[in-house]
Amino acid sequence: MKVFITREIPDIAVKLLRKENFDVKIYRADKPIPYQVLKKEVKNVEAVISLLTDTFDKEIIDAMGRCKIIANYAVGYNNIDVKYAAGKGIIVTNTPEVLTDSTADLAMTLVLACSRKIIEGEELMKKRKFKGWQPKLLLGIELKGKNFGLIGAGRIGTAVGKRAAAFGVHILYYDSRVNPELDALGAEKVPLNFLLKKSDIISVHLPLTKSTFHLLNKKRLSLMKENAVLINTARGEIVDEKELINILEAGRIFSAGFDVYENEPDINPGLFRLKNVVLLPHLGSATVDARNAMAELAAKNVIAVLKGTRAITPVSP
Ligand code: DGY
Repeated sequence: MKVFITREIPDIAVKLLRKENFDVKIYRADKPIPYQVLKKEVKNVEAVISLLTDTFDKEIIDAMGRCKIIANYAVGYNNIDVKYAAGKGIIVTNTPEVLTDSTADLAMTLVLACSRKIIEGEELMKKRKFKGWQPKLLLGIELKGKNFGLIGAGRIGTAVGKRAAAFGVHILYYDSRVNPELDALGAEKVPLNFLLKKSDIISVHLPLTKSTFHLLNKKRLSLMKENAVLINTARGEIVDEKELINILEAGRIFSAGFDVYENEPDINPGLFRLKNVVLLPHLGSATVDARNAMAELAAKNVIAVLKGTRAITPVSP
């Protein structure tokens, strides 16, 4: 049976698939596969391992004559029309759990970088502008005793909450479900607008869906405290980026940390002009550990489905 991988991922995936005697083909260019090439490649394969940069819309799914599974090499799967795929009998899987800690570590890195002006400090050093200790140099915000708002308290939100709790913050979370793990840390489940008004640090951990697109719109963003720090490691489209840029330009919050953007990789140039932001190139799951585990899980999902057993981590209805 044929498996197509839309870009090079850690070797473990190919090793596992070849051990099962699957015929594996990889798109090896160092850029996302062009739409028309993807459409051609998926035509005669039983399985695809896809990336979050590949769009699987109705047209591509219609071209997947024999395909049984799209194994997305990511926890997010907003790049795939899951419902349409399900209608065609194609199972979609993702890679939850294995990248939770990497992404949570990165969210906390942004929290600390933004609240302590780490990048400005580093820049000052490398430009050789450090003139010795100064009482008012790059004053930041201490975490202890602050309200830490989690927008989304699933796996990654919970892992961030646990890390933040070690810094002595009070956790507020917005989620449809009660989270006993966070509650055990003294967290409060609150409405979104309350969280935005009360939090000193806000970290976004929701999936991108129709209902979370621009959830943080102009009106909601304007509720944030004057000294708030906003971190987004989930999906860029959850925040109205233009509005956030206006707020940051006007200095109406302390700072923001971005790992994800509305139009990746075409970044709004307004972001590059801002002093009070830290920008990362979508590195949430970018550790050797997480990427190996993601590759292994994606391959195991393919093997399970092609052998006629249940997918390990299906997202399809
Ligand atoms: C995911 O897996 O959805 C992440 O965005 C990858 O970093």
